[in-house]
Amino acid sequence: MSFDLVLFGGTGDLTWRKLMPALFQAFRHGKLPPGGRILAVARDARTDDEYRAFIREKFADVDAPKQPREDEFARFAELLHYRRMDLSHADDYAGLKAWLDERAADTVVLFLATSPHLFTDICAQLGSAGINGPQVRVVLEKPLGHDLASAQEINRVVRASFAEHQALRIDHYLGKPAVQNLSALRFGNALFEPLWRRESIANIQITLAESLGVGTRGDFYDGTGALRDMVQNHALQLLTMIAMEPPPTHDADAIRDEKLKVLKSLKPFTPESVGRDVVRGQYRAGTIDGQAVPGYLDEPKVPADSTTETFVALRTEVQNWRWAGVPFYLRTGKRLAARHAQIVVNFRPVPHPIFPGSSRANKLVIKLQPEDGLELHLLAAKGSGQGELLAPVSLDLDFDKAFTSERVGAYERLLMDALAGRLNLFVRSDEQEQAWRWVEPILDAWRADPNGPRPYAAGTWGPPASSAMVARDGCSWDEEQ
Ligand code: BG6
Repeated sequence: MSFDLVLFGGTGDLTWRKLMPALFQAFRHGKLPPGGRILAVARDARTDDEYRAFIREKFADVDAPKQPREDEFARFAELLHYRRMDLSHADDYAGLKAWLDERAADTVVLFLATSPHLFTDICAQLGSAGINGPQVRVVLEKPLGHDLASAQEINRVVRASFAEHQALRIDHYLGKPAVQNLSALRFGNALFEPLWRRESIANIQITLAESLGVGTRGDFYDGTGALRDMVQNHALQLLTMIAMEPPPTHDADAIRDEKLKVLKSLKPFTPESVGRDVVRGQYRAGTIDGQAVPGYLDEPKVPADSTTETFVALRTEVQNWRWAGVPFYLRTGKRLAARHAQIVVNFRPVPHPIFPGSSRANKLVIKLQPEDGLELHLLAAKGSGQGELLAPVSLDLDFDKAFTSERVGAYERLLMDALAGRLNLFVRSDEQEQAWRWVEPILDAWRADPNGPRPYAAGTWGPPASSAMVARDGCSWDEEQ
């Protein structure tokens, strides 16, 4: 299969930080189909060789084992091409079309790694230039809109040029190996399915915690905030994977239909329930790994009076027969105590305890980061000499050890899927719009609330109100148990 992969925003952050390293890994693993070209387009004039040298230099920032040797880079670089384009000029799209037509590759993937405000113009221009034939797919990076109306507008323009199956919306969390494993755990094994319901599960906690701050992205982040940056997409996608019904097949639409049903079953927020069930926070100065770090308001390019949230914790429910009454807690934030992403499924305790001492319930921990794996927490008898006392033990599954072959990173996986036309891990427009529909009342309630976000010290787990919200149900966050 011959392919042309065009990276709009070819000199930008996303391209050299994530896409090029992922493409290089795919190349190194022999997964990049032969006979392909990768074309970076951006505003300034460069030759192919100048662009290759630019990318070579950027690889210095990549983790050592993922850095190319000189001979490997030289072979990879043969795939790389560069083209100057002004994205508002119709002539430049005609030039791109001629470049693509010269070769008439079997597959053309156009990856929009530009600022999202350009998406609609680029898609409209691609359509007018005729770069939207059946062999073409367009990949859109988040954030896709900042509310429902803007997301709908992007989808409307994209749809005018591309069919739904040609538009691939990336949520890189869906490319993470732990998320593939979540699907395998639920639908490849019969063990958990009978327990995967309200009768056996007390609550579910999804934590996406980062220890980093906003770094140099202060201007982007300040217009976005944690709800739009992490909850509307990554956290909700994980929730759908946990809560969805078993799909009838492994086809993209069968899976996405089930995910959409979950999003439609989420309990809608009202102004009152936002006050009670959503906590927003903003970090202040603190200490992370023994280092003093500044507060959000002192970060570069952040206004000193910003009320943007860097932390969100919320409680919701999936209103259907399987999940009625089970709290789903979502939590994400910057400058928290650790880089740590996991889903915890807390089971109900035994109905009639006969052992003295421990009343702990079982839990299943699906770990996404920093390493991925599964932990099943059980109680076992520890012969203490004073009667049967139970102690918690865990069954640990470390996927890096279980599978010795190369693990595939999220972007590598998603880029290869985009080239192959596998849509399972991309978000459909109706899912994305439904997610906006659900978060919008939170944005509205916050806009009307003069109190702003609650402060929390960097290096903690967020404002105390987050623990208080969970405690109201008699629960606690995983690290407090
Ligand atoms: C991105 C957000 O989508 O995800 C960033 O825009 C965030 O703010 C990043 O840091 C987290 O991704 P990961 O894979 O490092 O957990």
